Amino acid sequence: MIADLLGLAGRTALVTGGGNGIARATCLQLAEAGCDVAVVDLDLAAAEGTAAEVRALGRRAVAIARDLTDRAAPRSMVAEAVDALGSISVAVNVCGGTAGVNKPFLDLDVADWQRPMDLNLVSTFLSCQAEAIAMVQAGLAGAIVNVGSSSGMTAAPNLAAYGAANAGIIHFTKTAAVELAPYGIRVNCLVPGTHWSKKTREHATSPDSPPQVRQFFADAATATPLGRLGEPADSAGVALFLASQLSAYLTGHSVVSDGGILHTTARPAFGGQQVPEAIRSWVDGSARPTGPHEGTSA
Ligand SMILES: NC(=O)c1ccc[n+]([C@@H]2O[C@H](COP(=O)([O-])OP(=O)(O)OC[C@H]3O[C@@H](n4cnc5c(N)ncnc54)[C@H](O)[C@@H]3O)[C@@H](O)[C@H]2O)c1
Repeated sequence: MIADLLGLAGRTALVTGGGNGIARATCLQLAEAGCDVAVVDLDLAAAEGTAAEVRALGRRAVAIARDLTDRAAPRSMVAEAVDALGSISVAVNVCGGTAGVNKPFLDLDVADWQRPMDLNLVSTFLSCQAEAIAMVQAGLAGAIVNVGSSSGMTAAPNLAAYGAANAGIIHFTKTAAVELAPYGIRVNCLVPGTHWSKKTREHATSPDSPPQVRQFFADAATATPLGRLGEPADSAGVALFLASQLSAYLTGHSVVSDGGILHTTARPAFGGQQVPEAIRSWVDGSARPTGPHEGTSA
């Protein structure tokens, strides 16, 4: 009954970053809805683990190892998925992350700026391009779901490049949707807030994590109106909706899945208040400007 309502039974999906987190949960929900799934990940063992879980749900699956920061990877991942499973008409581009860049923008060099751009925005753009070409070549209407971040919708202290890359994904989704609409391909964006995943649990609990990073997760949960951080299945459900015919009249839009925190003023900074190295010798961390425009009490 539910599979019929979703219109996903018998279709083939490709999911990037599928070895873990939101993407893994999306693979499993797509399989439960009747899709065969191509699971793409940098980590082949993780992709194979998810593919085995998909098969256990009675669907076909293939694990594909790719580093999606390699600019040739999106075309070849789609080719391998089509070879293995016949075609794709659903794609969920989840691959992304901070690329380990967590510091004030005054301390970023161009390489720091580029890593999150490559992992998030460039990989999403190239994946969408390869997936749409495959769908058009096969004459299939389809649905593409990009995954951004709430850091792309509001200020992202210490994550300037990650925030800008995800704002780019949200905007790129609008253009891709309009350009692909004539071919019957919808493109939408899932925008998660902070979720528990293998990586965020490591950040939250590892003794190697700076205390401000560990504190961020407690503060974020407290500041979230629904009172907790997200679980991967929470946002996978939104991706499933955007891939399904329940959202047949929705394209170019972003759906935020964040427990409501974007509606508050209490969203904490990842890594806390940091004094940039670039100006550390001039300020002590509590300094406020006292020049002619601010801080004067004439
Ligand atoms: N978890 C959060 O708090 C959160 C918040 C907002 C947005 N997001 C976004 O949601 C997405 C998924 O996040 P998550 O926490 O579920 O992920 P995760 O860290 O649990 O999993 C990411 C997966 O991507 C794979 N991967 C990493 N680099 C890759 C590369 N270069 N090529 C191919 N695969 C690669 C990893 O091996 C891993 O399996 C990301 O785009 C992230 O930016 C996550």
